[in-house]
Amino acid sequence: MRTITSIKNAKNSEKLVVITAYDALFARLFDQRADIILVGDSLNNSFNGQNDTLSADINMMIYHTKAVLRGAKNTFVISDMPFASYMDEKTALKNASKIYQQTSAHAVKIEGGVERAHIVKALVNNSIAVAGHIGLMPQFARSEGGFKVKGKDEKSMQKLIDDAKAIEDAGAFCIVIEGVKEEAAKAVTEAVKIPTIGIGAGRYTDGQVIVWSDMLGFFEEFKPKFVKRYLNGADLVKKAVEQYAHDVKNGKFPDDEFIY
Ligand code: KIV
Repeated sequence: MRTITSIKNAKNSEKLVVITAYDALFARLFDQRADIILVGDSLNNSFNGQNDTLSADINMMIYHTKAVLRGAKNTFVISDMPFASYMDEKTALKNASKIYQQTSAHAVKIEGGVERAHIVKALVNNSIAVAGHIGLMPQFARSEGGFKVKGKDEKSMQKLIDDAKAIEDAGAFCIVIEGVKEEAAKAVTEAVKIPTIGIGAGRYTDGQVIVWSDMLGFFEEFKPKFVKRYLNGADLVKKAVEQYAHDVKNGKFPDDEFIY
């Protein structure tokens, strides 16, 4: 099982594998097959059917984090802090403590760079391990007018480097970099000593994170360019349910094999 130290030490030696999970069933399947499981607030999209992550709240995150921890007993688990749960230091401390006290999550994640470094510092100073998240930040998408890829020019690249350094200086143990041009993610990765975990950020980050329902092909509504589907989950499920319906309607299920 990973620790903060072994995650930090992975930089420049091995790639970190991170996958999201929202429930015990899938977390059990991912347990020990990934270095880190992230209980992402992306659950609000794929699990909860909303268009963005903004309506996820702290109680939802705690509920799902507990479920994931019941399934993944041997994997380092990060719980996402949802929108509005870390607007200021006091609110952040209250909500991150709630996650730490009510679940056995190993760390929390918050979105934001330079402007959120003081929040990271307040949590770390109070013994709460923090993963940062910079670049395309889904919790900022509404105020920024959509999901915008970052690092397209010098200024944007410099902003990402400044963000990453501020988060590192504040005490974060790793940083998620989302929706960023590959060269920019590479520059950020080289600029900090803590591992970077990319999603839609190209090849040169210290690890990769992917949303499980995207990767396994269960989320059909939208497939971002960076998602590689390793399974056609939705097709398999639909075919299986159609087969079940057919068997029930035609008296083929249950047959002798399935009767007491
Ligand atoms: O909520 C989430 O799943 C995330 C990942 C996309 C990094 O933050």
